[in-house]
Amino acid sequence: MSQGKILAGFVAPHPPHLVYAENPPQNEPRSEGGWEPLRWAYEKARKSIEELKPDVLLVHSPHWITTVGHHFLGVERLSGKSVDPIFPNLFRFAFDLNVDVDLAEACCGEAQALGLTAKMMRNPNFRVDYGTITTLHMVRPQWDIPVVGISANNSPYYLTLDEGVEEMERLGEATRRAIEKSGKRAVLLASNTFSHYHFHEEPEIPEDMSREHPQSYKGYKWDMRMIELMRRGEIREVMRLFPEWVEEAFAEVKSGAFPWMISAMEYPTTPAELHGYGTVIGTGNAVMEWRLAA
Ligand SMILES: [Fe+2]
Repeated sequence: MSQGKILAGFVAPHPPHLVYAENPPQNEPRSEGGWEPLRWAYEKARKSIEELKPDVLLVHSPHWITTVGHHFLGVERLSGKSVDPIFPNLFRFAFDLNVDVDLAEACCGEAQALGLTAKMMRNPNFRVDYGTITTLHMVRPQWDIPVVGISANNSPYYLTLDEGVEEMERLGEATRRAIEKSGKRAVLLASNTFSHYHFHEEPEIPEDMSREHPQSYKGYKWDMRMIELMRRGEIREVMRLFPEWVEEAFAEVKSGAFPWMISAMEYPTTPAELHGYGTVIGTGNAVMEWRLAA
């Protein structure tokens, strides 16, 4: 068996508005569209994934919160209805997904070997969170590639930020080791919004784009600064500024997906490609790709 590898990593944010705007048959609410530039950015990500033909998609979501340790989906097939607790008017999604349990178990084992508290999720009736689903649907609406779903232990929130980020970097290292030993070709998905300042009221028509713009100029400027560094391949500088970005832009990357992915990819100096940027209820969302393999 040849060594497995990470083909690419994507920042792939999960505002449920994007799924709502696409009107897929799985989602109950209907829309008139909206957030097109971000959805077109996801079309580019889909094309990349089509080219890469990965065996598995690994996604880390801030909205599957586990207080004790890092959990991995561990049931071969999961189906049911997922509802966004904040936007139940936009997201009531009938999901049906296949999990790569072998790789999930390997990731869990490697995480434990590196001293992290990690556990397999074996509840067959588990309701998969909207973050995991939105990211997966936006990058691969065919739902035909097995997934590894990873929870957010949110250690950067209750440990110091440095300690929390260090844990996520260890989880990334564990993920890479598991992928390499598996012989599989993997794509990583960090399900994160950048600046997370948002409006507190929804327009009467949620997809009324005349109401959509960055909520915070400061948050927007931080996002542009960080995206520019990523586009130049200056990932060490991104990680050096990470705590300030999190603090000043209230960035959702704090929940750990971003450092997990960057560490798993061994801090790539490959310039990231920005597929697109847009706001959703004022938050900053970038779809970005680090292509590691041809
Ligand atoms: Fe979120």
